[in-house]
Amino acid sequence: MSMFQLFLFQLSGILFLSQQFCYGKVMMEYIGATGVPVKLEAVPVEEGIVFHFILSFAIDADPSGNTQNGKFSPYWADTLTPECVAAMKKSHPNVKALTSLSGWSLGDKVLRWYTPDDTQQWISNAFSSLSSMAQQYHLDGIDIDYENFPRHNSSFAYCIGELITLLKNQSVISVATIAPYHKTIAPYIELFENYGDVIDFVNYQFYTDKVRKPKSYVEAFKIRAGQFDKEKLLPSYEVNGRGIQGDAFFDALSLLEENGFGVNGVMIFSADASSSNDYYYERKSQDFLLNSTVSV
Ligand SMILES: *[C@@H]1O[C@H](CO)[C@@H](O)[C@H](O)[C@H]1NC(C)=O
Ligand SMILES: *[C@@H]1O[C@H](CO)[C@@H](O)[C@H](O)[C@H]1NC(C)=O
Ligand SMILES: *[C@@H]1O[C@H](CO)[C@@H](O)[C@H](O)[C@H]1NC(C)=O
Repeated sequence: MSMFQLFLFQLSGILFLSQQFCYGKVMMEYIGATGVPVKLEAVPVEEGIVFHFILSFAIDADPSGNTQNGKFSPYWADTLTPECVAAMKKSHPNVKALTSLSGWSLGDKVLRWYTPDDTQQWISNAFSSLSSMAQQYHLDGIDIDYENFPRHNSSFAYCIGELITLLKNQSVISVATIAPYHKTIAPYIELFENYGDVIDFVNYQFYTDKVRKPKSYVEAFKIRAGQFDKEKLLPSYEVNGRGIQGDAFFDALSLLEENGFGVNGVMIFSADASSSNDYYYERKSQDFLLNSTVSV
């Protein structure tokens, strides 16, 4: 083997390794929840980042808010058509599309997890309705954003865990994420403990923890990293919202890295609000992730 051949051999080995183990840095962007006519192509997407648009929301309810036993329908802004998703994915091969299940409310009706009478039927209905939606809208995954739970034990972890497992097993989806906040920690920990293998990222809503300073943000991150998996946990930012605001967020990201927490991605809520400031936080977050030398 000549030196050159040896070099090529080693290079292919490195490329092979990086393809195997490097998912890359990720962005998670909720879009379409407020009904404003938001557009995918208006959001800046950098090469070198796996950019997930999370169409918000897919809801197990009719337009009046009556539950449908696991039959999910799309309720995001009607500017986010299947054609737009297809076009965005075609022009940006690093874009993935997800839909988030539930969210806080539909119209003025607060949504909550309910225990299905027949869990197998619920899982089967959810599987078929989400499979059709995934095919129609070119979806790569689902996010779980149930925000209200019954007081007593429920079948949430079982139904959602089995649903994700089935959707992945049948290759309907390749990505699954969860979006707990401080009041919903218990059911999401139960889900993560039993089905963590099929959950790729945790879009924890740090803005609900009311931390406004970089140092307290790192403390909050440490707590949630102990409850979930620090490699899968993403720092998050609410545009024009609660919690840490402005460039202090990027100071918090730097401080996380100084404290040994690799920042593997950023979640932003939401594109609907960001259109008014020319997507400042999306641009700067991707800049940060591309600058960061800490590898995933
Ligand atoms: C789906 O599940 C079956 C049965 O457990 C298993 O043999 C198969 O490898 C799984 N397929 C995928 C893609 O996970
Ligand atoms: C539900 O009950 C099971 C078993 O009784 C328990 O392990 C689990 O932690 C409970 N889940 C929640 C969210 O309270
Ligand atoms: C990324 O690096 C460039 C060049 O060093 C720097 O100007 C910029 O501020 C950095 N961006 C962030 C968000 O850290």
